[in-house]
This record gives sequence, C-alpha cells and structure tokens, in this order.
Amino acid sequence: MRLDKFICDCTGLTRSQAGKLIRQALVLIDGQPCKQPATQLKPEQQVELDGEVLALTGPRYFVMHKPTGYVCSTDDPDHNTVFVLMDEPRLDKLHTVGRLDLDTTGLLLITDDGQWSHKISSPKHECAKTYRAWLADPVDDSAIRLFAEGVMLRGEKHPTKAAQLEIVSPHECLLTIHEGRYHQVKRMFAAIGNKVEKLHREKIGDFVLDANSLAEGEYRVLTEAEVAAFVG
Ligand code: URA
Repeated sequence: MRLDKFICDCTGLTRSQAGKLIRQALVLIDGQPCKQPATQLKPEQQVELDGEVLALTGPRYFVMHKPTGYVCSTDDPDHNTVFVLMDEPRLDKLHTVGRLDLDTTGLLLITDDGQWSHKISSPKHECAKTYRAWLADPVDDSAIRLFAEGVMLRGEKHPTKAAQLEIVSPHECLLTIHEGRYHQVKRMFAAIGNKVEKLHREKIGDFVLDANSLAEGEYRVLTEAEVAAFVG
C-alpha cells in the first residue's frame, strides 16, 4: 500500500493533507523520515506520525437499538442521524445496513464493511427481517394468506415476496420479510387497508435484538461469531 493511502486510512486525513505531512518529513518509516508519498510500504514496516505509531483498524461491526427521531442516512439537514449516538473514531466511514424510518425503532446494524452489509441487505440473499408492528385497525387471519401470497405495493410492478405474519393480538403482529423495499412494512399493511402506528425491528437473520441489555439509543460491538453468523 502507498504511504499516503496508509496514512489516510489510519487517520482520516485527505490524500493532499497526508502528502503535505510526508513532504514536511513528519512521517517516519522504521524510524527514518520518508518524504515520498508514493512510497510502497511493506507489511512489516512501522509508520510513525508525530511520534505516534499508526495502525490500520480492521472492519468494524456494531449493533444499535435505534430510537425514534433519528435517521439512518449519514447526512440530514433536518434530523439527527444515528451516528450522533456513537462515540467512535472515523464515523464518516460507517454506514447502516439498510435503513429504518425516522419513527421506527429497533435492531440496526452499522459497519464500514460494504461487502458484509451488501450480503445482508441485498434482495438476492433474502435475509429475513422480523418487525413488530402495532396497527390502527384489528388484523384478521386473512392477512396471513395475503402476505404469504404477496401483495402489490402502490406504484410497484411486482408483488412482495412471501412474508410470514404472526398475529400476536388484534392490533399487534410480527411480520417477517425477505426483501427491503422502501417503507415496506408500512406499505404492506397499507395494501391491505390498515395503518402501522408503531414499528420496531426485532430480528435480522437469526440475530435477535436483546432490548434488556441494549436500551434505546445504545450500541455495542458485535462479536466475531455474530458478524460471521449474519453471512454464514
Ligand atoms: N418497513 C417500514 O415500513 N419501515 C421501516 O423502517 C422498516 C421497514
């Protein structure tokens, strides 16, 4: 890897900022100043900047219990993003795996590993996502068959894929879907003449959000085993 790229990846500096520091002889390779930004680093070489040894951090994986009132985009002029809830370096490198609406709560995955998030969110992989929905009108058993067969969402050409509905009580359901269309759960209930009043994601794949150990607004690092299980 080029020296200037390595510094950018470790520090978040731009290529030109890194280049400037290198040309000012502020960067040492194995204790010796190196003034060439294009220098190719060998894996065993040690790079220091301002007396600090730089190290690449590996990909990062987090689970958050998303509260309402936060958006999943990286930048929103009108709302707080979920990233303001995180105390991590290089927040600009992180993204959410899929999105939850501003008013949806629950399980949110956050990473800087694009391949991992693609595997979880791409429709091809059909990763199951389970939502608890509270409805304005009572839901009856006919909804189970309608969702299993697929419903047409307003403005779309293809019906939804088979989804599993469990009716917990007349106004509360668990819905498992295998794709991630825009506002999918709300639009599915709208398609059968109902309205979602509150929505909470409980599960992605086999991973269940433990709301007892992770309160709304909290997040934690996923273990290696958890990370692997999402794509296993
Ligand atoms: N479906 C929705 O309608 N909203 C969400 O936030 C997630 C799934």
